[in-house]
Amino acid sequence: MSLDLQAEQVTAEPHQTVAAPAGPTRTPVARTVLMCRPEHFTVVYRINPWMDPALPTDTSLALAQWQSLYDTYIALGFNVQLVEPIPGLPDMVYAANGGFVIDNIAYGASFTHPERQPEGPAYMDWFRENGFDVHVPAEINEGEGDFLLVGEVILAGTGFRSASNSHEEAGRLFGREVVTLKLVNPSFYHLDTAVAVLDDANIAYLPSAFDAVSLSILEKRFPDAIRATEEDAAILGLNSYSDGYNVVIASRAKDFDRQLRERGYNPIGVDLSELLLGGGGVKCCTLELRR
Ligand code: ARG
Repeated sequence: MSLDLQAEQVTAEPHQTVAAPAGPTRTPVARTVLMCRPEHFTVVYRINPWMDPALPTDTSLALAQWQSLYDTYIALGFNVQLVEPIPGLPDMVYAANGGFVIDNIAYGASFTHPERQPEGPAYMDWFRENGFDVHVPAEINEGEGDFLLVGEVILAGTGFRSASNSHEEAGRLFGREVVTLKLVNPSFYHLDTAVAVLDDANIAYLPSAFDAVSLSILEKRFPDAIRATEEDAAILGLNSYSDGYNVVIASRAKDFDRQLRERGYNPIGVDLSELLLGGGGVKCCTLELRR
């Protein structure tokens, strides 16, 4: 009896290997990122539909959840830099909005809403102190919230926050092609809530977040892209960060998890439910530093 079982197991193994989907090989590249501890996180104003000042927030829970994201990055071998949080700037935890950094050049942020405007100079100070060439922005823009690098191309969002003339400013500054994408759903007000960059050639996106022209651009440029489900989008599931193989995502984004696995990525779920009360997730808390 036990011999039979053993024989079965032995023959089952090679079969499994043959039947396994031959997914593409994904290569992780350890990233350098900037983060900001949510020491002063709370929701006292409303600048996006996710925020409700009437709902209670728990800063110590936000800190614990943020720490799990930090620990995940460290475990992946990332170099994680920290900017000092400033009292009175509850959204400073969303470091992605602090600028956009390529080739050691930091394009500073100029925030749309007065509540966040002091964050622009605060992040620029950090860039300067840490050896980046800082470009003080002439145009309204919210950094990597609306600018995403995919290979050599910059995808740039507009409609709610970053002004489209900031796309031209970034294009001139970095000498790269910039593709303007128009966001139309106020719940997906930053590009990084509607597009996830998976590696140099692949993205995931939420089709309903874009106008028709932008959608056809995305379809043409990224025919194989993952289309996120509305269900995942409803918890900002697309707001994720990838090293080319490991993709740190919201733990509740179940369809996205499956879609990533099917394509050979390794999704890692993190629960940032408290920071979702401010309208942000994994990517919002992460600013990539490209030297
Ligand atoms: N409360 C912040 C705001 O509305 C959230 C920012 C989220 N950041 C992001 N990169 N999507 O500005």
